[in-house]
Amino acid sequence: MRIHLRPLTRAAFLLWLMFASLFSSLTAHAAKRDFEMNIEDTRITLVEKQQYHTFAFAGQVPGPLFYVDEGDEITVNVNNLTALPHTIHWHGMLQRGTWRQDGVPDVTQEGIKPGESYTYKFIAEPSGTMWYHCHVNVNEHVALRGMWGPFIVRPKKPTALEKKVTKDFILMLSDWDSKYANKPGFGGLPGDKFDYFTINGRSFPDTQPLRVSKGDVVRLRLIGAGDLVHSIHLHGHVFQIAFKDGFPLTNPIHADTVLVGPGERYDIIFTADNPGRWMIHDHVDTHTMNGDRPHGGIMTVVEYTEIKHDDAWYPWKNKKFQPNFYYEESLKKGPGIYTDDVFKGQLIQ
Ligand code: CU
Ligand code: CU
Ligand code: CU
Repeated sequence: MRIHLRPLTRAAFLLWLMFASLFSSLTAHAAKRDFEMNIEDTRITLVEKQQYHTFAFAGQVPGPLFYVDEGDEITVNVNNLTALPHTIHWHGMLQRGTWRQDGVPDVTQEGIKPGESYTYKFIAEPSGTMWYHCHVNVNEHVALRGMWGPFIVRPKKPTALEKKVTKDFILMLSDWDSKYANKPGFGGLPGDKFDYFTINGRSFPDTQPLRVSKGDVVRLRLIGAGDLVHSIHLHGHVFQIAFKDGFPLTNPIHADTVLVGPGERYDIIFTADNPGRWMIHDHVDTHTMNGDRPHGGIMTVVEYTEIKHDDAWYPWKNKKFQPNFYYEESLKKGPGIYTDDVFKGQLIQ
């Protein structure tokens, strides 16, 4: 069907089109992202038979991925289904003009009581690798109960280096004390002895490989979600420490090991130019233990797809690969808020 427009109508139409496209380009980066999230008593498995009672965001540890654009309007309605009060602090968010959304009990709000709800509203700024966590009794709720998740804000102006990234992974590091595994409401005291150490809530060998191919530019977003400092060493590659707490470094530091302290984020970027299987692990030896057994904890393998996994002695020869363990599939999809069964525990009624 052909539409004939009179010259005047056509001019008006073109003018409208110009304004409409200008308006949409101005507002393109300010999507509204609404999310409803429960906090639930959830039992997760750190490794093998070691389970842990957590207060889990959306019943999973880590919590759902918030992947948004800089400037997006975020609304999160939180329902507390547990027996203790909680809040959510959006670590890294500036909260300009919205200080009451900062999630600190007795400073910006009252703790969200059991059975109650609270709605957080704020603008996603600045950009970078952020995270969120409870701010009530952090010694227990963050350090021992899995109350944390990743919050990635995509920048309006990405750096030249991050534009080259072809594989994007999130690794949240944390520590656990097995003596409090079944004692919710307890733990988080000086002298506690952490004896389990996880990446995204799992210890080796129940972590997953980081799968890359030759030529990939790989970004690992390391987030210190626990109580200890982790010394992350990647074998066979030089990486650039490109971002600290979400902010790009003017002069990225070349390194093979980086210290990640509680609350800190480091984004490290490397070119996958050396096909093989390469360890990436915590160089603090006691953090590669599962309880009293060595060869566990914060440890995984960068596996090149070019290398076969048919060596009989390779412990992960027949491993059932769980994609999205590092949120890599969600990150490919672009902005959104993502839950995933790979992190879900069992609800404790
Ligand atoms: Cu809490
Ligand atoms: Cu924090
Ligand atoms: Cu090493």
